[in-house]
Amino acid sequence: MELIIAENYDEMSRKAAHILAAQVTLKPASVLGLATGSTPLGIYEYLAEWYREGDLDFSQVTTVNLDEYYGLSPENEQSYHYFMETNLFSKVNLPAGKHYLPDGKNTDSQAECRRYEDVVDSLGGMDLQLLGLGHNGHIGFNEPASCFEKEVHLVNLSGQTIEANKRFFASADEVPKQAYTMGIGTILKARKILLVVSGEQKAQALRSVVQGKVSPQVPGSILQFHPDVVVVADRAATAALE
Ligand code: F6R
Repeated sequence: MELIIAENYDEMSRKAAHILAAQVTLKPASVLGLATGSTPLGIYEYLAEWYREGDLDFSQVTTVNLDEYYGLSPENEQSYHYFMETNLFSKVNLPAGKHYLPDGKNTDSQAECRRYEDVVDSLGGMDLQLLGLGHNGHIGFNEPASCFEKEVHLVNLSGQTIEANKRFFASADEVPKQAYTMGIGTILKARKILLVVSGEQKAQALRSVVQGKVSPQVPGSILQFHPDVVVVADRAATAALE
């Protein structure tokens, strides 16, 4: 794992955006694995800005997102479809029909998990997967568990994740209790992984991921076994590293 330390959130976002931009410049037909949440917002702003300035072209890019809440439609403002549309897709020239997310409205979970894993496989895996980190060490919505999930699955969100994500909803009660997520095995199909981490409240999680034992209790720790991982963290998030 390579660790790049940025002074603050903005610098973290810019450095990470440069890595994504380099990927798209070097391979215009890249498959990008994308994440939602607060951490990547600054990255998406930089990518949109560089596109507007003519420095980036997404016309050949395909994107595939990590996860989606179960039961939410793309029109729902809390859905990850809506998040991606608002924060990235509507701001750059990604062709319609070339961005993929799980279908939160599909109640046939077995069929949906199979379909989405097949999407990833038909794309040949991700060239670069962007990941945020949960306070409990989750990546995607792979919550601490007794084993690493191999494939796309429907997951019960942990109380800690519901608590952390309630800021996007009117109350904790409205946060969906389940989500479709790429499994750890799905994520590891990415040839390169970019993990972004910001803030002191993530410091313990980052330490466990980077310096702890590899364990499904800290799902992100599996990244220690991937051959090409870059972590871009702001200084606050590195507070607990030895
Ligand atoms: C989002 C995702 C999650 C988040 C994580 C951190 O698609 O898969 O793993 O990356 O919960 O979220 P933030 O960035 O909001 O702290």
